[in-house]
Amino acid sequence: MCGIIGYVGTQPALPRLLTGLSRLEYRGYDSAGIAVADDSGICAHKRQGRLSALEKDVKQRTFTQKTGIGHTRWATHGAPDDINAHPHMSFDGRFAVVHNGIIENYAALKAELQQEGVTFRSDTDTEVVAHLLAKHYKGDFRRAVAETVARLNGAYALGILCRDFPHELFAVRRASPLVVGVSADGGYIASDVTALLPFTRRVMLPEEGDMVRVTADGIAVWEESGKLVNRPFEEVTWSAATAEKGDYPHYMLKEMWEQPAALAATLAPHLENDGIRLPELAGFPACGWVGLRRICMVACGSAYHAAMVGKYVVEKWARLPVEVDLASEFRYREQPLDERTLTVVISQSGETADTLAALRKAKRCGSPVLAIVNVTGSTIARESDRVLYTQAGPEVAVATTKGYTTQVAMLFLLGGFLARQRGELTAEAERRLTKDLRELPALTQETLTVATVGAAKWLSQARDVYFIGRGIGYAVALEGALKLKEISYIHAEGYAAGELKHGTISLVEEGTPVVVLGCGEVAPEKTLSNLREVTARGARVLAVTTADLCEIYGEAAEVLTVPTVSPQLSAIPVAVVLQLLAYYTALERGCDIDKPRNLAKSVTVE
Ligand code: AGP
Repeated sequence: MCGIIGYVGTQPALPRLLTGLSRLEYRGYDSAGIAVADDSGICAHKRQGRLSALEKDVKQRTFTQKTGIGHTRWATHGAPDDINAHPHMSFDGRFAVVHNGIIENYAALKAELQQEGVTFRSDTDTEVVAHLLAKHYKGDFRRAVAETVARLNGAYALGILCRDFPHELFAVRRASPLVVGVSADGGYIASDVTALLPFTRRVMLPEEGDMVRVTADGIAVWEESGKLVNRPFEEVTWSAATAEKGDYPHYMLKEMWEQPAALAATLAPHLENDGIRLPELAGFPACGWVGLRRICMVACGSAYHAAMVGKYVVEKWARLPVEVDLASEFRYREQPLDERTLTVVISQSGETADTLAALRKAKRCGSPVLAIVNVTGSTIARESDRVLYTQAGPEVAVATTKGYTTQVAMLFLLGGFLARQRGELTAEAERRLTKDLRELPALTQETLTVATVGAAKWLSQARDVYFIGRGIGYAVALEGALKLKEISYIHAEGYAAGELKHGTISLVEEGTPVVVLGCGEVAPEKTLSNLREVTARGARVLAVTTADLCEIYGEAAEVLTVPTVSPQLSAIPVAVVLQLLAYYTALERGCDIDKPRNLAKSVTVE
């Protein structure tokens, strides 16, 4: 996903822009650029490829300007090349613009500007913003920005320079993330907090439609109506080191090993001696927990797979029907939603466009919305009726690990809480569940030492890999397949163990790796039959199971076992083994583990 950075202050802007952009690389990009301004005008430089290519170019010159903006571009409109890279300049050279998001009505605006004689250089939607600024400019920078954004439909976080006002920049946000920072040497804008941590921890999150002016002396904010407002600043609690890779070779490995602490931080505040406490849900929903008819869990990618685990858990413990839907489908389906349907949106970043759109649809239909989110103050968190925050800390690797397992942990808490509220869980059963949940972090720590390198070596030679499981094992199989394919580029599919024989088993041939998951207590003997079905057709089976079931799967070519834990909770340790498997397979194949090709950490476009 694109990333923007901006600075105005008492120090040279360029080093700050490049450092900020290096912190945004994890979002995924294919070109980068900067623009700086002083009394002599605006100077811009942009390059296709990695940030290092841009750095090589700009470090050959001396940039002393103290105002600037920067951008990492994840191509949506137009190829990833030097011309389409940001910043984009207005036809008169007066404005420079960086943008994260999509201008949905750019084609009509482009046609209007072309009819007025404007020549476009790029294929991007963003370029229309630069030319509109020039068109609306009559000497007042803020007014030109206000009139321009009033013409835009879609999602945008914009950083804007004006040649006539070289000691300030403007930023505007709508449906794309934007954070503002202040420090002794000036003011900053960025797409997310991690880009500001090297400079400041004092940050402010503009509201939808806010316009921000940054100068060396401070920040001014106007809400959409044009009224000057005060937005509160807060101290970021993460240490800069938390968002650093440290001694790990990859952020993904670091974040996998942070899972015990992340799980403890997520679970502990909600576990008391004998039960689960979710004070964030006091007085919610209006219809009462007993009055709820069903739950819709809505998410994308790994968050969707976490929701699949949540479904099994909530239905089993709380006896409440749960639908799980991909956000990109949910938002267009004509499903009945009302005040007695709870919509649970799950998102690590809290900025995923499809999940945000699904949230907004649910609210329009009167459904109460609960968010499970990792990033404090993110758009999804702010627009939901209630929020349960996972405490994974910043997650930088594109492939989520601690983000996913803490989502699953939060769903365990929600399932237990709902069961208690609906009278489906006895006090004794809640006490046992609380004890089991409290032991998850230590059990995860132990699981991280499972030896997966050997299996990874033979998986790394595969063209296709199939992950199969039953019940919660199926939900975890989906996540295992995604982890493997997104970082190792091996085709992988997650399948319900009982479903393979209805077609896909035709793809199983001599040596095809099939990963059989023995987690959740659902019919292990049936899953054993499925193991035998694929083995009979030449598959090489890797079983991943809890220790108490490993006997059953002893026929597999290799068995990896995790410590025994209650069936539903085994989703987390088994998923951790699949994360390790994916990591070491990708390592064996020399892939770019933290920044896989074509992927972005937070998909803030539709
Ligand atoms: C998973 O490893 C991917 N990074 C991706 O599927 C991700 O889970 C999905 O884009 C949802 O992101 P979110 O949790 O930030 O909404």
